[in-house]
Amino acid sequence: MSKLNLNSEIKKVEKQIAQAIKSEDPVLEEASFHLLSSGGKRVRPAFAILSSQFGDHKNEDVYRVAVSLELIHMATLVHDDVIDRSDRRRGRLTISKKWDQPTAILTGNFLLALGLEYISNIEDNRVHEVISSAIVDVCKGELFQFQDQFNSEQSIINYLRRINRKTALLIQLSTEVGAIAAGADKRTVHQLKMIGHYIGMSFQIVDDILDFTSTDKQLGKPSGSDLMNGHFTLPVLLEMKVNERFKKEIQQLNASSSKESFDYCIETIRNSDVIQQSQQVSDKYLDKALKLINQLENDEAKPLFKKIIKKMSKRKT
Ligand code: IPE
Ligand code: IPE
Ligand code: MG
Ligand code: MG
Repeated sequence: MSKLNLNSEIKKVEKQIAQAIKSEDPVLEEASFHLLSSGGKRVRPAFAILSSQFGDHKNEDVYRVAVSLELIHMATLVHDDVIDRSDRRRGRLTISKKWDQPTAILTGNFLLALGLEYISNIEDNRVHEVISSAIVDVCKGELFQFQDQFNSEQSIINYLRRINRKTALLIQLSTEVGAIAAGADKRTVHQLKMIGHYIGMSFQIVDDILDFTSTDKQLGKPSGSDLMNGHFTLPVLLEMKVNERFKKEIQQLNASSSKESFDYCIETIRNSDVIQQSQQVSDKYLDKALKLINQLENDEAKPLFKKIIKKMSKRKT
C-alpha cells in the first residue's frame, strides 16, 4: 500500500460530508454547514482511515464509515450543546444561539439519520450492530452526565464509566469499524477496537483538562465551562480527595452559585498538581494503546498511527 496522506484523505471525507448534508431544506443544510465549516479535528475519520491500513484491502466502505462517524459525532455535539445550553462551539455561535433550540434538535436528528443512511448499503452486518449499540451507549453517557450534574458524591469509577460511554465508544468504533470495512481479520479488528478504546479514554481526559487550562480562544468556548455546567471531571474529583476546603465548596455548588464560588474552584484546579496527575492518567491509557499498536502486523502503517496519537495528547483544543 502506498504511503498514506492523511490530510488529503480527510479532505476527501470532508467533501463527502458537504455533499451528504445537501438538503432540500435550506435551514437544515445551513445549520449543518455552519458546524461542518467551523473546523474540528476530524479525529474519528482519521482513526477509521488509519485503522483501515491494517485490513487487506482499502475500499469505498472505509470512507463511508469515516463520513458516517463524523456525521454521528456532529449530531452528538449539536445535542450536547442543547443539553448544556452552550452559546459557543469551535469559536462560533451554537445552532441554538444562531437559530433556535428546535432547529438545533432537528439538525442533530438530521445529522444522525444522515450518518446512518450513509452506511446503509454496507453489507457486513457487524458494522450496523456495533454502530447502533454505540449510539445507545452515547445517549446513556450523556444522560448519566446530565443526572450527575453537581453531584459531589460521584466516584472516579463513575467518571470513567461515563467518559467511556460518551466519548471512548465512538472513537473505539472508528478504529474497529475502519478495520472491519477494510477486511481485517478478527484478531486485528479486536486489537484495533481496544486501541480505540484506550485512545478515546485518553482523549476525553485531555478534553477535560483543557477545559481548565486552555484559553477561551483556544477552546472556542468559555474556559471552565464544565464546572459551571456542574460536570465534575477528573481534576475536580482528584482535588476533592486531598483538599477539604475545596471539597466543601464543591458540595455547596449549584447552578445558581455565585461567580466567585465558581472562580475559586476553577482557580484552585488550575493551580493544583491534579492537572498533572490527570495528564498521567491520560498517558497511561495512551501507553496501553501504543503497546497494542506495536503488536499489530503492518509495520509500515504503525509510525503514522503512533505519531497522530502522540500529537493528539499534546493538543491545545
Ligand atoms: C469534542 O470532540 C467532544 C468530545 C468528545 C471530547 P472533539 O474534540 O473531537 O471535537 P471537534 O470535532 O474536534 O470539534
Ligand atoms: C461531549 O463531551 C461528548 C459528546 C458530545 C457525546 P464534552 O461535553 O466534554 O464536549 P465539549 O467539551 O462540550 O466539546
Ligand atoms: Mg459539553
Ligand atoms: Mg469538554
